[in-house]
Amino acid sequence: MNRKRVAILISGRGSNMAALIEAARGSDYPAEIVLVIADCADAGGLARARAADIATRVVEHRSFAQDREAFEGALQQALAEQRVEIVCLAGFMRVLTPAFVARWSGRLLNIHPALLPSFKGLDTHARALAAGVKIHGASVHLVVPEVDSGPIVAQAAVPVHEEDTADTLAARVLAAEHRIYPLALALVASGRVRIVAGRCLIEGSSSRDQMLVVPD
Ligand code: GRF
Repeated sequence: MNRKRVAILISGRGSNMAALIEAARGSDYPAEIVLVIADCADAGGLARARAADIATRVVEHRSFAQDREAFEGALQQALAEQRVEIVCLAGFMRVLTPAFVARWSGRLLNIHPALLPSFKGLDTHARALAAGVKIHGASVHLVVPEVDSGPIVAQAAVPVHEEDTADTLAARVLAAEHRIYPLALALVASGRVRIVAGRCLIEGSSSRDQMLVVPD
């Protein structure tokens, strides 16, 4: 099997990164994780990646001050050195320029902790509770220049409980994120995702490949 070479970009603890690394250990998984890049040296996920024997790089956004193009040039160089074919953003807190996004068009994924297009941006769980939604979740989407937009590859839904706090809801969503991101990456890496009129159409897949409903 020709496994796609994948890099994961993180800024924090890297639990989604760990879920992708774990999934990619499967011999029939269509992708291998060849690189983890953090934009700050204290990202907790770096130690987890090293413990899993994955190559790591730190490309500190602070070193590039206001120069986003230089920062992205350093990212691009690290990706090219490892011959990366697909990039997964996993809690990566930098907004990428349209030029970088265009370069990786169709090969750049992000996970967002809400059922897009609802609750783009930050504090999604508190805002979902305030809105009184009964179902919340997570989305994996292809990245486009507009933040938290772009064709949706897969989504996971979880129930919202009346007694939930933002933290309890976040924990339930996070567990679902760890399941849906590996599913979504597998779809993209196996070349089954086609973009038609701004939507992802997935060849030869059942809905179970692209959605997950976590029951109570
Ligand atoms: C996740 O909730 C992800 O959806 C969001 O940032 C968080 C990152 O968590 N984009 P982790 O670093 O993967 O644990």
